[in-house]
Amino acid sequence: MNQTPIFSRLAGTGSSLPKNCVSNADLQVRLAELGVETSDDWIRTRTGIEQRFIANSDETTSSLAIAAANQALASAGLDPEQVDLIIVATSTSDQIFPSTACVVQAGLGNHKAACFDIQAVCSGFVYALSVADAMVRAGQARHALVIGAEVFSRLMDWRDRTTCVLFGDGAGAVVVSASETPGILASSLHANGSHASILATSGRLESGAIVGDPFLRMDGQAVFKQAVSVLGVNALEVLGKAGVLASDLDWLVPHQANVRILQSVAKKLDLPLEKVVVTVNRHGNTSAASVPLALDEAVKDGRIQENQLVLLQGVGGGFTWGSVLLKMI
Ligand SMILES: CC(C)(COP(=O)(O)OP(=O)(O)OC[C@H]1O[C@@H](n2cnc3c(N)ncnc32)[C@H](O)[C@@H]1OP(=O)(O)O)[C@@H](O)C(=O)NCCC(=O)NCCS
Repeated sequence: MNQTPIFSRLAGTGSSLPKNCVSNADLQVRLAELGVETSDDWIRTRTGIEQRFIANSDETTSSLAIAAANQALASAGLDPEQVDLIIVATSTSDQIFPSTACVVQAGLGNHKAACFDIQAVCSGFVYALSVADAMVRAGQARHALVIGAEVFSRLMDWRDRTTCVLFGDGAGAVVVSASETPGILASSLHANGSHASILATSGRLESGAIVGDPFLRMDGQAVFKQAVSVLGVNALEVLGKAGVLASDLDWLVPHQANVRILQSVAKKLDLPLEKVVVTVNRHGNTSAASVPLALDEAVKDGRIQENQLVLLQGVGGGFTWGSVLLKMI
């Protein structure tokens, strides 16, 4: 029996940010009220971050995800009922269960899609995209919504200046659709659980009480070193799978944690910085939302165009990391 091979491609993108933008100067004032000292200069020089968006109490992971998903569906020209798979990458789910993906499904007015969340922290979106690609290619879905959505501000210990200045909230979404020609070309995911403690929110709920530490804790220097050492190798691995050279890339859309990490990976790949999409200065680190937020921004402003080669990269808690290489078709 002759069957047309099924590939997958990105059919649409969308994003959403909370209303409340907090500059470094605003944060400095707020933290001073708690007796915590920081400065715009320290944050900017060490991380490249100038501002971040912080969710108000009426904004949730699912509300941001639904807004991003609606945009992605509109740009793909699809109705919500046409979606048969919804994956939300998040570490800040609205609730323990049901999944945020189920909440998003109800909010979109879809009643049949398979729905689940993926928990791979800041690598969550590339993990979710790779899973959606595999499911579409296996014929299990024709149109998948893949969303990265987070309210990391709710995991912050505002008295810990080594973490609370770094993170922000937001959501980004893509539609992955079946295609006769390949859009998603290759992906490569990895983890090393022996580094779990360098970036973690280790607390849990037990018998109605929080057990352990409910705040995000990080050994910043260890995370920095891990990220820089794995991302260059991982990029070459995924490029090798697709038979593509780093010099063929039109865009690198990396996880947005620290501008110095982005610069170091670009240098390892010999990629000019003009080919790196940077949003960390305006969004801070939005964990699983950062890659789709940056992707949507560069698609909307016309930088990323049809037929271009784009490398998406995530890295974060777990320790997890991964890359997805795609052609915009
Ligand atoms: C967090 C990070 C910015 C810290 O930068 P660093 O150059 O390693 O800074 P250090 O941790 O060595 O701290 C240097 C000094 O700044 C101080 N400092 C830390 N946070 C500060 C803040 N917000 N404002 C002012 N001073 C601060 C420290 O207390 C320390 O002071 P000391 O020397 O008197 O002890 C950096 O390690 C980093 O970006 N790591 C990766 C984080 C990341 O990407 N996480 C997400 C991955 S998904």
